[in-house]
Amino acid sequence: EKGGYAHFMLKEIHEQPTAIKTTITPRIVDGMPNLEECGLTYDRLKGYNNIFVVACGTAMHAGLVGKYVLEKIGRVPVTVDMASEFRYRDPIIAKGDLVILVSQSGETADTLAALRMAKERGAETLSIVNVKGSSIARESDMVLYTHAGPEISVASTKAYIVQLSVFYLLSFAIAYAHGAISKEECMRLTAELQNVPNMLEVVLKTPDNCQYVASQLVNKENLLYIGRGLDYALSMEGSLKLKEISYIHSESYAAGELKHGTISLVTNNMPVIAVATQRELLDKTISNVKEVKARGAYVVLVTHGYINVDDEVADYKIGLPTIDDLLMPMLTVVPLQLIAYYTSVLRGNDVDKPRNLAKSVTVE
Ligand code: F6R
Repeated sequence: EKGGYAHFMLKEIHEQPTAIKTTITPRIVDGMPNLEECGLTYDRLKGYNNIFVVACGTAMHAGLVGKYVLEKIGRVPVTVDMASEFRYRDPIIAKGDLVILVSQSGETADTLAALRMAKERGAETLSIVNVKGSSIARESDMVLYTHAGPEISVASTKAYIVQLSVFYLLSFAIAYAHGAISKEECMRLTAELQNVPNMLEVVLKTPDNCQYVASQLVNKENLLYIGRGLDYALSMEGSLKLKEISYIHSESYAAGELKHGTISLVTNNMPVIAVATQRELLDKTISNVKEVKARGAYVVLVTHGYINVDDEVADYKIGLPTIDDLLMPMLTVVPLQLIAYYTSVLRGNDVDKPRNLAKSVTVE
């Protein structure tokens, strides 16, 4: 059942290229995103001027990537909330706003309650859900299924990456519908997205660098993940994955915010995983990386393979293939998943069933 892999988590990490293909291929027609299956025509997409994304945990992290991408190229304001916060903060939702619910299981109690509230307040609701016929899928006005197949490991991997792929298609489509990008640009980005599965196969062929990093982390009790922009959103996902299955405490931090307090934690006993794939922000992030390195941190830098990294910046580099910066999260998440996985294995934990956690959180 694990197809020769030691754990479901590792199997599911390796299923990611196929899961992406299955999710995006039917939704690309003549090189353009096509989401008409749920009524999302370009005309309809043009009408959304205010978007909310509501979800929990890893699904919420996918929403954060969605926000960056949508705002960057679509110029439409997007607010991301954890469902457990959104429900109780009396959010200002107007008729005609779009509320997007993201959920692997489609049964998460807080996300379902947020959906019901959004509907009551007259918003249009779109769910991005993996489990067919689940409550969130049934109750939302529109649904775009992710086609990850069953996810058994409690720690979510392939469900996250397909959620990202749907956010990309949606963002390209909304950006085009709003006239924020040309048809050519929309087609170029869509083609880039179609390249991701093959590039991921390459990333998955070299897990030994992540195994090495795991061997450096295994005896630590605290860790920091840092990044800016999209890389910060990825840091959050990397940190959650590690915490969840390795039981090492970790925190993700916006790199530029470190010096406002958190850098006082940095010593030679606080490894830092720095994510720096956004080339516009590279110099800024590298200067923050040097600051933690100068305070004795063991630094792992996750960046483009072609970028040279000297000793004063990082102790170890994980190099990724290069794709449009906007799409780098699709590649970057994989080493973060693998680092968490191998660290958990080395610590002898029950990787697929971490303590205190359930696959589907149906109580609030
Ligand atoms: C982390 C993880 C959780 C879920 C969260 C939402 O690996 O699996 O954070 O992402 O409980 O679950 P769904 O997506 O089913 O709503």
